Amino acid sequence: MMNYIKIDLDRQLGHIHPNIFGGFAEHLGRCFYGGIYEPGSPLADEQGFRTDVLDALCRLNMPVMRYPGGNFVSGYRWMDGVGPVEARPARPELAWETVELNHFGTNEFIQFCRKVNTEPYIVVNCGDGDMREARDWVEYCNSAQNTALANLRRQHGFDAPHNVKYWGIGNEVDGEWQIGYKTPEEYARAYKEFAKVMRWVDPSIKLLASAISNWRAEFVERIQLLLDHAPNLIDYLAIHWYVGNQENDFAKYMAVSELLEERISATEGLINAMKLQRNIQRPIAIAVDEWNVWYRARGSTLAERNNLEEKYNLEDALVVAMHFNAFIRHARSVKMANIAQIVNVIAPIFTSPEDLFLQTIFHPFELYSRACGNIALDVFWTGDTFSAGDQTALRTLDVSATLDEEARKLAVFVVNRSEKDAIETSITLDSGHFAGPVQAHTINGPDIKAENSFDHPDAVGVFKTDLKVERKDFVYTFEPHSVTVLVSALE
Ligand code: AHR
Repeated sequence: MMNYIKIDLDRQLGHIHPNIFGGFAEHLGRCFYGGIYEPGSPLADEQGFRTDVLDALCRLNMPVMRYPGGNFVSGYRWMDGVGPVEARPARPELAWETVELNHFGTNEFIQFCRKVNTEPYIVVNCGDGDMREARDWVEYCNSAQNTALANLRRQHGFDAPHNVKYWGIGNEVDGEWQIGYKTPEEYARAYKEFAKVMRWVDPSIKLLASAISNWRAEFVERIQLLLDHAPNLIDYLAIHWYVGNQENDFAKYMAVSELLEERISATEGLINAMKLQRNIQRPIAIAVDEWNVWYRARGSTLAERNNLEEKYNLEDALVVAMHFNAFIRHARSVKMANIAQIVNVIAPIFTSPEDLFLQTIFHPFELYSRACGNIALDVFWTGDTFSAGDQTALRTLDVSATLDEEARKLAVFVVNRSEKDAIETSITLDSGHFAGPVQAHTINGPDIKAENSFDHPDAVGVFKTDLKVERKDFVYTFEPHSVTVLVSALE
């Protein structure tokens, strides 16, 4: 059976914000210490950053980076992490049951962001922290005035304000596992007061509310209360979403896209309904500010389990690609997304003291973030289907497409969710013409369980081919269990 993908450049879904390719780095396991930041390592630069890690991160082209947590932030005092390193206190760290040395803190984070060309996004402690501490952090980072905390920053060697634009208030406040869990009412009240004073310190900042991570709890009420209490103080509602193939059922895992679509659509619907009910005119976007594949609790010791050193395989890479397809298809509402996380901890980059390797999920991230245009297209596609559990008639190909208006470039992103079948597909342009060859970049490996490792760093990799095409259409066969990005200049 022939499959069809039809692309009409005039059918546009909206502008894609590059921040959907964001990252998240938490004080957790070997993300910073022994990953990004390893003073004394022969691989570190003069400021202690691992240059091999920085190079790999630059390839991912992440425009925004969330920090410092995660669960960690709900017990974090930012003042512990500034000033002379030798004077910084070590503290018991309750979220991940360890000790935080505070050798890495706000200024190191800003330096890191500048090195990998990313905008810092700081989450304040709305767990056991208060709004005074939150507003002080904004002053320390962003104030250009002659005030105590701006002067403290100067004293710490940073004359110019850091100008941190994105600020989140709290992390996963809807989960009992969080230090300082809050009921919907408690959080809506706290959010408003935190946001108010933070904005008074710097009116230019963008604010993110922690909306949903516990999808089994009362998320409708949470969003309603947040938008009742603080309609003018919320720029993004943040949702979290982790998936995994716990049942070892490939078809079911490939159908996870439906659950993601369901959640994004539900959040969009809630925002739209509240905007209508409360006559809210300003934009309120969705930030999926933690998402990834995560199996949780692997390893036999507490330290192993709490380090979250997940190893990813090919099927996980397909799922990561499907997430980007969903973010692109929901470009009108999803304006930020942060893969959780970036190095060693449930991450695309894995280090040892001497080396690193790129996990399977690195490849879709790099391909998508580099090829994605600024306009999401409304693609029509049809063809083979599959069933999983009680879901039927799911299209085997999962597709999105973007247009880069300035460069006149088309990118078509296709995940072939069949384990066994290559899928022959006719790809047609309804308007415009291909100019020259189409480049096909394919992520694949010997089987769905293939993993990369220090010994086999390229078990799953990217292969590039140039395709000769007619001006308006061509036939392409998508390999089984693969991600393909077709990139073409347009006339
Ligand atoms: O990313 C790992 C953890 O997942 C984060 O700390 C928390 O926010 C989420 O539950």
